[in-house]
Amino acid sequence: MLFRRNGRTGLPVFPAILGLMVLTGVALTGVPELLGATQQGVLAWKPAPGSEDQYMGAEMCGMCHVDHIAALPDNPHAGAGAGTEHPSGDLTCEACHGPGAEHVNASGDPEMMVNFTEKEPVDVSSTCLTCHAGSMRHAGYGTSTHMAGGISCTDCHSMHSPKVDEYLKTSPTPALCYSCHPGSMADFAAADGHRLENGIIRCEDCHNPHGSPERGMLNRPMINGELCASCHIDKRGPFVYEHQASTVEGCVTCHTPHGSANRFMLKTNRTSELCITCHIEAPTTHNFADVRYQDCTTCHTAIHGSDSHRLFFRR
Ligand code: HEC
Ligand code: HEC
Ligand code: HEC
Ligand code: HEC
Ligand code: HEC
Ligand code: HEC
Ligand code: HEC
Ligand code: HEC
Ligand code: HEC
Ligand code: HEC
Repeated sequence: MLFRRNGRTGLPVFPAILGLMVLTGVALTGVPELLGATQQGVLAWKPAPGSEDQYMGAEMCGMCHVDHIAALPDNPHAGAGAGTEHPSGDLTCEACHGPGAEHVNASGDPEMMVNFTEKEPVDVSSTCLTCHAGSMRHAGYGTSTHMAGGISCTDCHSMHSPKVDEYLKTSPTPALCYSCHPGSMADFAAADGHRLENGIIRCEDCHNPHGSPERGMLNRPMINGELCASCHIDKRGPFVYEHQASTVEGCVTCHTPHGSANRFMLKTNRTSELCITCHIEAPTTHNFADVRYQDCTTCHTAIHGSDSHRLFFRR
């Protein structure tokens, strides 16, 4: 078996940003100014026009929020709002929390400050996306099943108390995903399946939790087995004799994607049951009373396609 690490795909950025704004009802004038995407795919950030004098700077926030400012240098967001040449200096805290003048003038009245825990998931996510919509991998969040299911960025990421340093995650994958998808945990625990515990394959190799144009938030299309063949390159055509079983639904016509009780993650125990779902009229020469015919791949061995035999007797 030959494997190659899956690549990344994404959405066209700008329609997705506009889509999100429509979805959240954000008018273009109400959001901080968006500049071009940086190399990392993070959009440069600027204070919302007209409210520049409401920003106090991170140094001011740190006067009272000592722990938060002390932890900032270790966070990838350190300096995220710094390049704006604002008289208050580094605006990092306020790039997420919004301008702090009222909160500071009221001696830190929490009512005067954005509290993310009480915000609607869609509002939390759109705050994050003011910068992260520049990245192809995250721009589609607004139309993802996760967004539709009421999940926000902060269900999986924590700005101030992440449990995993990498990507500020609230817990490592797959545990993070299993916490809401116990059914998938059962799939992967099945007798034969992709083994996630050794870390060779991850949920993120097949799914983009930030959404994708494919069904099931998949990283690549299923059609012609594209997603699966990105690792299983020996199953990728073109073959001289293609088996047209994968053309529409992809490899999951015959396999489960996560795992199953059957060998090779097949959908059925006997291959004959699988094959006759399409080959309803198996050749008359085939004697089904003979046990050999319960396993069609005893003879049709090159079932994924062949360069030398029309009936898949050999590769
Ligand atoms: C004068 C002291 C002071 C300053 C300056 C200050 N805060 Fe606060 N802040 C507080 C106090 C007190 C609370 C309420 C107790 C707590 O949550 O720590 C608070 C609460 C918060 C909360 C939580 C709100 C909630 O509803 O739970 C956030 C977020 C916050 N501050 C952000 C900021 C930011 C950003 C700045 C800089 C613009 C800032 N603070 C400046 C004193 C201050
Ligand atoms: C990348 C966005 C972001 C930045 C930058 C940021 N915060 Fe927060 N902050 C959040 C979110 C989101 C929460 C809600 C809790 C959570 O999900 O971690 C939060 C929560 C808080 C709270 C409530 C108590 C807590 O820890 O949960 C305080 C106080 C606070 N932030 C202060 C600050 C200060 C001060 C800075 C600058 C040093 C800052 N924040 C920078 C996103 C941010
Ligand atoms: C002011 C712009 C800005 C905002 C708003 C913002 N981020 Fe970021 N974020 C950045 C920058 C800049 C980086 C670092 C760039 C990089 O390494 O690619 C970053 C990095 C990250 C990373 C990657 C961490 C790593 O280890 O590489 C995560 C996860 C993240 N942000 C989540 C969030 C979440 C969740 C929110 C909303 C609560 C948010 N961000 C809001 C600018 C922002
Ligand atoms: C369902 C969980 C989940 C949600 C919701 C989620 N993320 Fe992530 N995020 C992850 C996981 C897992 C990774 C690491 C693997 C990867 O690259 O996809 C990650 C990675 C990232 C990274 C690191 C860069 C990278 O390579 O992808 C950034 C930045 C990020 N997320 C931002 C966001 C923002 C912004 C939102 C909300 C709009 C968000 N995430 C919502 C799970 C989530
Ligand atoms: C906080 C809860 C939560 C977490 C954590 C979470 N999900 Fe989800 N996920 C949901 C909800 C809610 C839906 C919406 C559909 C549903 O009700 O099952 C969903 C749907 C999905 C779907 C189906 C998409 C579709 O279009 O049918 C996939 C795939 C998925 N999640 C993958 C993941 C992966 C991978 C992770 C880990 C990186 C993850 N989820 C983490 C809550 C979560
Ligand atoms: C080898 C690729 C692959 C990996 C790894 C993978 N998935 Fe999937 N997953 C798929 C495919 C393919 C589908 C079917 C999508 C469809 O047909 O709509 C799917 C469907 C799903 C669904 C929706 C249907 C269902 O079974 O409930 C969820 C939720 C899901 N996956 C979660 C996860 C989680 C959580 C992980 C990691 C623990 C994970 N997946 C790892 C390929 C994968
Ligand atoms: C990220 C790379 C990757 C992707 C994508 C991937 N696989 Fe795999 N697959 C593997 C690895 C590695 C193994 C070896 C077993 C293991 O360690 O999990 C494997 C094993 C298998 C096996 C054999 C299991 C056994 O019993 O030996 C089948 C069948 C399979 N994959 C089908 C699929 C299908 C169907 C898809 C698409 C839904 C897919 N794979 C996508 C990496 C991948
Ligand atoms: C027509 C049904 C069918 C389709 C479609 C199909 N497979 Fe299979 N696959 C099988 C059968 C049957 C076996 C068991 C072969 C045996 O008995 O030797 C198998 C075995 C495998 C194996 C393990 C043994 C080996 O040959 O490496 C992998 C990996 C695999 N398939 C991946 C894929 C991928 C990737 C795709 C999509 C490109 C795919 N399969 C599409 C029926 C199918
Ligand atoms: C999703 C439907 C589907 C499934 C399931 C399926 N096939 Fe096929 N198969 C096709 C199609 C479509 C063709 C090409 C059209 C044709 O010639 O019948 C084909 C062609 C073949 C051929 C070549 C026939 C010829 O005349 O060129 C053989 C042999 C074959 N399949 C065996 C199998 C075996 C063995 C299995 C089970 C492991 C299987 N198929 C499962 C759809 C399927
Ligand atoms: C003992 C070996 C053997 C087994 C097992 C076997 N086949 Fe065949 N198959 C053949 C041979 C030999 C041919 C070509 C001559 C013929 O038509 O009998 C063939 C031809 C076919 C064809 C093409 C018929 C055509 O029109 O050209 C299909 C489709 C097919 N088999 C499906 C299956 C299915 C489905 C199974 C499992 C239920 C299966 N075979 C099991 C040996 C086998």
